[in-house]
Amino acid sequence: RTTGLRDRFGRMATDLRVSLTDRCNLRCAYCMPVEGLPWLPKAELLTDDEVVRLVRIAVTGLGVTQVRLTGGEPLLRPGLVDIVARLAELTPRPRLAITTNGIGLARLAAPLAAAGLDRVNVSLDTLDEQRFFELAHRRRLPDVLAGIEAAAGTGLAPVKINTVLLRGHNDDEAPALLDFALSHGYELRFIEQMPLDAQHGWRRDTMVTADEILAWLSTRHRLSPDPRERGSAPAQTWLVDGGPARVGIIASVTRPFCGDCDRTRLTADGQVRSCLFSQDEADLRGAMRAGADDGELADRWRTAMWGKAPGHAIDDPSFLQPSRPMSAIGG
Ligand code: GTP
Ligand code: 5AD
Ligand code: SF4
Repeated sequence: RTTGLRDRFGRMATDLRVSLTDRCNLRCAYCMPVEGLPWLPKAELLTDDEVVRLVRIAVTGLGVTQVRLTGGEPLLRPGLVDIVARLAELTPRPRLAITTNGIGLARLAAPLAAAGLDRVNVSLDTLDEQRFFELAHRRRLPDVLAGIEAAAGTGLAPVKINTVLLRGHNDDEAPALLDFALSHGYELRFIEQMPLDAQHGWRRDTMVTADEILAWLSTRHRLSPDPRERGSAPAQTWLVDGGPARVGIIASVTRPFCGDCDRTRLTADGQVRSCLFSQDEADLRGAMRAGADDGELADRWRTAMWGKAPGHAIDDPSFLQPSRPMSAIGG
């Protein structure tokens, strides 16, 4: 038996995404309803010690080399800076990243960088305050922009910006968002919306596709192939007007990259998911609290990944959205 997180299609998971909370301080329309969701009770969340223990097992025994902290909104986790510091002390040291909505990052960027965080990806769907309110139901655009600036200023580079385009809401802003990213030196990635919203409002026929995004990008810029290896990255990237600036598209739906997937996921309540779209989970929290040792936990994790599906099957007529929404998985 191999020691890594291999699945039966030969893929190895070396990139761990850990959700630290299912809560969020925004209500993005493509993610959760305005009234919020029934949040996980605190007793079910992994404690800081439990998070660090599971990541240690993944890094020291299962071949994980990159750890991304997600949510909900990970900056809402009270012990975040301390968790990052403890993960940065693991040997071998994993690369450490966060995906955040940016609120609170103005305050936290410096402490996070000092604790050992390497990179941040920040969601930004509009540059217009009124529209931000319509899309996310909170008036927090200035906080997000301040957070992005602070991250870049602290050397958490390259800052990547994630934009989900929604037809009729912000698709007309794609050029402005790209200009914003190019002028500040951020790497913008446009993301195809996936069927992971709590409201089940996703529709294949209204989704803004990678082809559409590429078509208008090409009317304004000369795109050339990125010499950097794509590897298992969700984003396909291009050099803009000869580079070094880049732009990316994450085309999960129309150009799935599941064949190269290197991801494993841990939910805030300690369940391993082999895929964003898994229908089942492996309960590491329960096992851990029942006294399982590191070896048993590693075995459970391997078994869960061995059962990973070949792909998300969004286009199958029998496709079923996973029972957990995006905000409880971590994207
Ligand atoms: P880096 O490329 O390492 O910077 O991060 P990333 O783009 O993988 O992570 P990020 O959290 O910024 O996610 C950007 C978008 O990609 C989000 O919409 C995620 O849901 C999506 N995404 C991340 N990993 C996967 C994956 O394994 N499968 C699919 N289908 N989408 C993913
Ligand atoms: N489809 C695609 N991306 C999504 N995100 C949140 N919900 C969806 C969805 N339904 C993005 C966010 C964030 C990242 C974690 O995932 O914009 O940048
Ligand atoms: Fe990997 Fe599942 Fe994402 Fe496909 S949908 S890339 S298999 S996590």
